[in-house]
Amino acid sequence: MVEYDPYMPEVLEDPNSVYARMRAEAPVYYVERFDAWALFGFEDIWAGHEDTRHYSVKNGTSDLAFLDREPSAMETLASVDPPAHDALRKEVFRYFGPSAARALEPRVRGWIRDCLDAHRGGGKIDAVRDLGQQIAVRVACAVNGFPLEDADYLVDLVSRFFGREEGTEGMTEDGYAARKQTWDYIEGLAQERMKAGGGGEDALGLLSSYSDAQGPYTAERIAQHLTLLLIGATETFPKVFATGLLRLWEHPEQRRELVEKPALVDDALTEILRYDMPTQWLGRTTIEAHEIRGHEIREGQPVMFVYPSGNRDPEVFEAPDRFDIHRKSPRILSFGQGTHRCLGSFMARMEGRMLFEEVLREFPDYEVLLDESERLRTEFVQGFAHLPITLS
Ligand code: HEM
Repeated sequence: MVEYDPYMPEVLEDPNSVYARMRAEAPVYYVERFDAWALFGFEDIWAGHEDTRHYSVKNGTSDLAFLDREPSAMETLASVDPPAHDALRKEVFRYFGPSAARALEPRVRGWIRDCLDAHRGGGKIDAVRDLGQQIAVRVACAVNGFPLEDADYLVDLVSRFFGREEGTEGMTEDGYAARKQTWDYIEGLAQERMKAGGGGEDALGLLSSYSDAQGPYTAERIAQHLTLLLIGATETFPKVFATGLLRLWEHPEQRRELVEKPALVDDALTEILRYDMPTQWLGRTTIEAHEIRGHEIREGQPVMFVYPSGNRDPEVFEAPDRFDIHRKSPRILSFGQGTHRCLGSFMARMEGRMLFEEVLREFPDYEVLLDESERLRTEFVQGFAHLPITLS
């Protein structure tokens, strides 16, 4: 009989094999330990994202607190339901949408070239720490309104959120301390901006003069919202970039094609996102009982969307375990869907396009130093913590 619990050693070690069995034998699975449901099939996960009638994000969408039905400790776009969510998101989108991403392109290209130049002499670079994270955190600083000089400090804080300790499930004491430090840091910036009368073309400026039914936003509320924007921007993207470099290295003929036809980078990115989605799951709290494939989902039960499983569902993707940059998938789950669809997807795609273009143009024959790599295997996010590549 198949079994699943996000903290099981088998899931941490080899998630895709467990997910394949779950999809085949129990695509809608009751997780007894949490009195919760886990969805493994693409269509069920997709439909779950579009369903705001049966589901709420009031308890957040991840971690043990969510599974234990505790109200979210942070007020963010990902913990507020419509209509309040939609009103705020519409405003914030200005700093994250397609035109904002296009406007940032020249700066991003400059940052990438600076990072590559700084490591050229040494002949190798850590694709996660020295490249992916550097670009992702700078984009986060630019769109949120944080000083660029604080980029390294912020990368360090966010990495601590995702640190795990043997014997502890979920976030560690140090992770919680890092979260508090991040709140304090952003709260300080928000207070300064408010004192200066608000304003500024970034998310901090917007929220410094934003009001809703509870009144004008306080520095504390701003800090919670911007913490999600910082984490969302900084953590996942570098992992996608690193696994993308690995897959292209493993498939030299596809890498060669990309080098010769950079116009294929957008399609390649979609496949990279599909093939190795770092976030293992996010979820919703059921607010109205309903059925999924004959299973009764009761009010109050958490429902987990197991993204990497949906992204390799053979009912939607032919030969899903084959990496193929020509696939042209019209739908993938890597940015979610519907109301809470990833706010940063245009930024992430822009960063990815620029990074692959630059690396493949300058170092088309890079080698991945797999023996020197380090993997992060957690119940929440998976991917490389370090992936050195040669610059030759
Ligand atoms: C490749 C990198 C990324 C991946 C794989 C990713 C993944 C996701 C997913 C799956 C969701 C849906 C959450 C849900 O439905 O519960 C989401 C939402 C979100 N993402 Fe991303 N994300 C990425 C990059 C970014 C970036 C660069 C930013 C910010 C600049 C960002 C900010 C957000 C925010 C704020 C939300 C919540 C949106 C809302 O609730 O309205 N993400 N992301």
